[in-house]
Amino acid sequence: MNIHKLDKFAKSLIKEAAGKIRASFTTELIIETKSEANDLVTNIDKETEQFFIQQIKQNFPEHRILGEEGFGDDIEDLSGYVWILDPIDGTMNFIHQKKNFAISLGIFKDGEGLLGYVYDVMADDLLSAAQGEGAFFNDQRIPRVEQANVEQSIISMNASWVVPNKYIEHEGMIELLRKVRGTRSYGSAAIEILYVVTGRLDAYISMRLSPWDIAGGMVVAKEVGAIVTTLANEPINLLTQNTFIVSKPDLHHEVVTNYVKLK
Ligand code: IPD
Ligand code: CA
Ligand code: CA
Ligand code: CA
Repeated sequence: MNIHKLDKFAKSLIKEAAGKIRASFTTELIIETKSEANDLVTNIDKETEQFFIQQIKQNFPEHRILGEEGFGDDIEDLSGYVWILDPIDGTMNFIHQKKNFAISLGIFKDGEGLLGYVYDVMADDLLSAAQGEGAFFNDQRIPRVEQANVEQSIISMNASWVVPNKYIEHEGMIELLRKVRGTRSYGSAAIEILYVVTGRLDAYISMRLSPWDIAGGMVVAKEVGAIVTTLANEPINLLTQNTFIVSKPDLHHEVVTNYVKLK
C-alpha cells in the first residue's frame, strides 16, 4: 500500500465530508440523545460516518473501520488496516455553537499509526501527519514542541474534573489550576490535541476519551514530540476508553507525577 496515495485519498474524503457538514447548516438538524441527556448525536454525525465508510469500503474493501456512530466494523483487534474515525468531534459545539468541531481520523496498520488527521471544519484548518514524515498544519511543517513548566503553561481540561468525580482526586486538579498561567476548555478533544500540537496549548487532560476522539491526533502528536499517555502514564489502548493527557514532555512528567492522583 502506497502511504502517499492513501494520504491523498483520506484528505480528499475529509474535505468532501466537511463541505457536506458545512452545507448542512441550511437544513434542519435531527438531534437525538445517546447514553444520557447531554450525549448528543445528529443525522449529520451519522451521515458523515456513513459517507466515509461507503467510500473507504469501495476503494479499500479489505480495510476495517472503527467509527463512533457504529456503522463500521466490530473491531476487537487492530490487525491489518484499521481506520479510526470520529465524523464530528464536538457534536455539542456543532449543534449549539456552530464552530469548534472537527473530523478526527487515524489510519493504523497492525496497531501502528500510519496517518493522522484533525480537521477543524469551520476554521478550515487541517492538522495532518504521516508516520516518520513530520506533522503539518495546512501546508506548513510544524516544529517539534518546546518544553514548558507548569507555571508558564496553558492547560486545557473540562471543568468536570475540578469538582468531585469518580476518576481523580479533584484537589490535585485544583492545585494544578492554581499553579498554571491559564486554563481553557474548547469542547472537542480533537481540537484540543490540535492546539497542543501547534503550540496554542501546552497540555490537554481528560478522564475519559474513546479511541475515535484521539486516534487521529495521537499520530500527529508523536511526529512533533508531544507525549500522549493515560493519566497513569501508560500507553493508550485504542480498543477501550482511556484517561488521557497530551503534553509537552517536561510538563507531562510534572503533571502526571505531582498532580494526578487517580482513584
Ligand atoms: C466529545 C468531545 C468532548 C469530550 C467528550 C467527547 P463527541 O466527543 O471530544 O470534548 O469531552 O468526552 O465524547 O461526542 O462530541 O464526538
Ligand atoms: Ca458523541
Ligand atoms: Ca468525539
Ligand atoms: Ca463524535
